[in-house]
Amino acid sequence: MSRLTRAAWLYMAVVVTAAVLLLAHVLVQAMAGGQDYLLSRALLVLAVLFMICDSSPTTLTSRQSAWSPSSAATLAAVVLLGPGGAALVGATSLISLRRGGLRERAFNGAMYALSAYASGEAYLALGGHIGVPRPGLFPGIILPFAAAAAVHVAVNHGLLWSMLLLLPPSGASLQRGRLDLHLSLLLVSDLGYATLGLLIAALWHLVGPFAAVLVLIPLFVARWAMGQFAAQEGAYSATMAALCQAVETKDFYTRGHSERVSRGATLLARQIGMGAERVEAIRYAGMLHDVGKLGVPTKVLQKTGPLTEEELAAIQLHPMRGLEIVRQIGFLTEALDGIMHHHERMDGKGYPMGLAGDEIPEFARVIAVADAFDSMTSTRSYRGARSVGEAVAELRKCSGMQFDPVLVDAFIAALAQGRWDSQAAGQPPPAALPGDFPAQVAAQDHDDPTAPLRVVESR
Ligand SMILES: [Fe+2]
Repeated sequence: MSRLTRAAWLYMAVVVTAAVLLLAHVLVQAMAGGQDYLLSRALLVLAVLFMICDSSPTTLTSRQSAWSPSSAATLAAVVLLGPGGAALVGATSLISLRRGGLRERAFNGAMYALSAYASGEAYLALGGHIGVPRPGLFPGIILPFAAAAAVHVAVNHGLLWSMLLLLPPSGASLQRGRLDLHLSLLLVSDLGYATLGLLIAALWHLVGPFAAVLVLIPLFVARWAMGQFAAQEGAYSATMAALCQAVETKDFYTRGHSERVSRGATLLARQIGMGAERVEAIRYAGMLHDVGKLGVPTKVLQKTGPLTEEELAAIQLHPMRGLEIVRQIGFLTEALDGIMHHHERMDGKGYPMGLAGDEIPEFARVIAVADAFDSMTSTRSYRGARSVGEAVAELRKCSGMQFDPVLVDAFIAALAQGRWDSQAAGQPPPAALPGDFPAQVAAQDHDDPTAPLRVVESR
């Protein structure tokens, strides 16, 4: 969880306070009513099961979302102990072994306690039986349990998403994007884990607390398998980062450009309502859009004077070189179109293919806008960073000729909604390169529409 806005602090205070009041009510009721579950073996075992699950969340993809199967324990508690016991089990998230500060722990504990209690109430409302379910209770117990599982997922996700919506754009957009990408997977897995709760409760009748162990074993085997997949994705990400680093080492003044274009393209893709998987693909395309510069001689990339026609041709080949470099990376799919065509223009005067209008793949049109915007708002060898306002004016000026007008409007709308982290743009001026005297630095940039490449007669 990143730094919080005032609204997020307020929201968190409300959620945590509600949970504290609820837990106090549960404890008072349990002690006053002489309910014995407070000292029961079931509460202890399920709390430990919850902590084990919550302390070892399943990584969905490398360095990204992680999700815990702990709802299996809270849903089992709903059946075995009722709403109060389930809330106490959920609250143990506060002391789980997962990394995270007190703020995150307090919110998670409150979230799980509230969602567990709500699901327990739903279970009771539909006639669910509290206690170890005997075989005779099936199948009548299934409907109340299904309702409890649905309520648990709805309350849990509702509380979490509300928090993410209140986080500041820079931190939230990343986390939201990751959760958004995996939302269907998260919902299905949460419902699946919840079903395991009924399994634990049903097995309790036969094997007692050992039911938790029987359920944990296949769960952790599945976790291990998903971890292997995440490790493979981690290797892909590291490869892409290395390629970006290589490009930026070669073309010194564009450092950070790939990452920012990636963020700009992702922002625009979300603004126009692209699906989560395509948004993820365009994130990769933004990172790798200039990887073909690895195939352009360094002295050409860093040349400050006018280019010969051969040198211009070498630069204009970089989208095709990029495609050659990364086309074997299977998961890039549509991203390859973005890399290959990001310098096409709507009027057909771009390169390498001279495509026009809708002939240009959508990914390439999106990257073209983000690429030009970042180039203009970043420091270059020949000028400081332009303001966002100046860059927007230039995008408007070139709309329809160079850029897709629909995408320009969408990008400007996203900027107006404050969804671009201006600190991400406008990097500090880079240190001068050896021999980089001001008199030799000329205004030319293949990404910047205000500073086109200049060409002299071929030698
Ligand atoms: Fe490029």
